[in-house]
Amino acid sequence: MRIVMIGSGYVGLVSGACLADFGHHVTCVDKSEAKIDALERGEVPIFEPGLDTIISQNRNAGRLDFSKDLAAPVASADVVFIAVGTPSRRGDGHADLTYVYAAAREIAAAVEGFTVIVTKSTVPVGTGDEIERIFREEFPGKDIAVVSNPEFLREGAAITDFKRPDRIVLGTEEPRAIEVMREVYRPLYLNEAPLYFCERRTSELIKYAANAFLAMKITFINEIADLCEQIGADVQKVAKGIGMDKRIGDKFLHAGPGYGGSCFPKDTLALVKTAQDYDSPMRLIETTVAINDNRKRAMGRKVVAACDGNVRGKKIAILGLTFKPNTDDMRDAPSITIVQALLDGGADVHVYDPEGMEAAKEMLGPVVYGKDAYEIAEGADAVVLVTEWDEFRALDFKRLKALVNKPVLVDLRNIYPIAEVVRHGFSYFAVGKKSGS
Ligand code: UGA
Repeated sequence: MRIVMIGSGYVGLVSGACLADFGHHVTCVDKSEAKIDALERGEVPIFEPGLDTIISQNRNAGRLDFSKDLAAPVASADVVFIAVGTPSRRGDGHADLTYVYAAAREIAAAVEGFTVIVTKSTVPVGTGDEIERIFREEFPGKDIAVVSNPEFLREGAAITDFKRPDRIVLGTEEPRAIEVMREVYRPLYLNEAPLYFCERRTSELIKYAANAFLAMKITFINEIADLCEQIGADVQKVAKGIGMDKRIGDKFLHAGPGYGGSCFPKDTLALVKTAQDYDSPMRLIETTVAINDNRKRAMGRKVVAACDGNVRGKKIAILGLTFKPNTDDMRDAPSITIVQALLDGGADVHVYDPEGMEAAKEMLGPVVYGKDAYEIAEGADAVVLVTEWDEFRALDFKRLKALVNKPVLVDLRNIYPIAEVVRHGFSYFAVGKKSGS
């Protein structure tokens, strides 16, 4: 089966490489010459564990190649995936579909024979209909079917998520397209990953509903965490206690500094806008968005409070900048707001992240970048753990204590038991748990 992936960003590259690994022939296309040149030189432009190996193995096996030109590979393709970006439209939060429709028009001009066009980008309900209209009205006679196939990949765990998905959602009722999509995902089907076929509009909404629900779940536990701090309860134990109920489930109940990343903030906002447009407002999600925005700033205030209410002239060491571990992605990371709040308060902010510092340089104000946790902790008045990278999970507190000016640890991911931290002479501030010294 010949597959073309339009857009070699995060989703396109991971999906393209994994589909090649299933045995299909995949061409990943991108308009960025620099990106394609880099991929052809064997460089992988994003950090995703395991991706470089899959790309090189499949290139060597002749199943994966890259192209700046769309027309030639599309002409011989059975399936063309659209995996271009759908950023928030400036000003109103709607998903910006400029790139999706531009890709659709270019594909339409190039397809030959029956071809399945699949939207993998996160697109609002009705986008598949619009793509179909473009084909029907502007390129009549082309034999195509448009399918929605949202992705549910988590950054940092994308390869596993692609190869061992909970489900594959496929929005189409066209019998020929159903057959083709079964063939695309046949290797997974043998692993018994359910292929869930539904109408295209339903599939498009499933993607937004899933992300909005998860964002809401995180926000719920974050508010429970705030309450725990007031009443002296422990949010991790509450999460465990409710998570054992299978109707609730134990995932996405980790309290923290608020969700970030390239998906939840953008998709919740886009769902809110769509719902308002259809006069069917989603107040739960509107509130989720507002609570999460406030929370990031509140985490800055939490650090200030841990420094006796004043950070002016104090050195603060920030461990972790990316929106979560195992990625170099800084988009909408809580660290951006937290660092800004500390800079506003007059702090001298030193930061370290294993993968995110290059991207951070474009987003953070005047901070000092260090080479590891211990270097930035030297002389610090507080150490703040913002992203739970593995290398921060077993800090040498004895060494740290000897380096810092004041032994204060603000653990915004709740990775340490208070007893362990306090035993080493630190004051400990967590999220929704007992703090103490
Ligand atoms: C998310 C979804 O989990 C994927 O299923 C989806 O495919 C993807 O968006 C997308 O739409 O492309 P991702 O943004 O990579 O994936 O990361 P998550 O692991 O979902 O984490 C998102 C944010 O929530 C992070 O800032 C993380 O720290 C935070 N989070 C997550 C919590 O604060 N608590 C939790 O319990 C879980």
